Amino acid sequence: MAETPANKDLYAVIGSPIKHSKSPWIHGQFAEITGEPVEYRAVLGNEQDFAGSVEAFRSEGGQGLNVTVPFKQDAFDYASEFSERAKRAGAVNTLVFREDGSVFAENTDGVGIVRDITVNYEVAISGKRVLVLGAGGAVRGILEPLLAEKPQEVVIANRTVSKAVQLADDFSDLGCLVGVGFADVEGSFDLIINGTSASLAGELPPIPSSVITPSSVCYDMMYGAEMTVFNQWAQQLGAAEVIDGLGMLVEQAAESFFIWRGVRPDTQPVLQALRASLA
Ligand code: ATR
Repeated sequence: MAETPANKDLYAVIGSPIKHSKSPWIHGQFAEITGEPVEYRAVLGNEQDFAGSVEAFRSEGGQGLNVTVPFKQDAFDYASEFSERAKRAGAVNTLVFREDGSVFAENTDGVGIVRDITVNYEVAISGKRVLVLGAGGAVRGILEPLLAEKPQEVVIANRTVSKAVQLADDFSDLGCLVGVGFADVEGSFDLIINGTSASLAGELPPIPSSVITPSSVCYDMMYGAEMTVFNQWAQQLGAAEVIDGLGMLVEQAAESFFIWRGVRPDTQPVLQALRASLA
């Protein structure tokens, strides 16, 4: 592997596969914008030996990692100290290798989506009725920061009802939460977040169209060159705003950068350039 350029601190994203990750480009932009001396690489992790891959990176002087599929759980097991939200999420996407040898773990996905909604789109979550579709790892990862915004109620709807009920139970001390099946979703919502992977298959979670009103904001955690099936559906039903997960991607990266460097990069130019590159 290449040597770290002199006077630069080394970071990377680790995953498998990793070739298509946008993180090296995003963090390269952040380094340029902030002037921070950061070298950021992509590391192909060994699926049989995550710890070995991380040790090799640390022995080169690596100071922190972003962690992506399929290692978010492995990273949790590897770490020695956790933020409260990382503990709740049960999976982490950011590791900090401290000078004393300890490994601090954080999950920045939830902060990413909350900042995209509340800062970039200026949509308040406080006091709102929120519907979250899905009950997998992606949803578990965002619930703590979402509930910290103090919504009036969060309904979690999932294909496998028991998983929605379990998730609502796990976070019930943080707010008003209920877990249901898709067919049992009742009423309308101010904010609807699609955290299922249905969009990957071009499918739509079968929820009643009455959940959407002209003031509803709809957010699909997926993104791509084409609008997702969920966002097309929401737009056709007259939702006030439909948002994809590109901003979440950039904001979770910015939060990791902030944790490592203590500097928050301006995300707007990066988000605009990424959006243009998708078209
Ligand atoms: P992720 O890490 O992306 O959350 P996951 O943990 O496998 O991945 O969870 C995927 C989520 O998408 C689950 O909530 C899953 O529903 P089930 O729990 O019933 O499996 C949901 N999902 C996947 N494909 C779906 C589809 N075609 N329609 C509706 N929900 C779907």
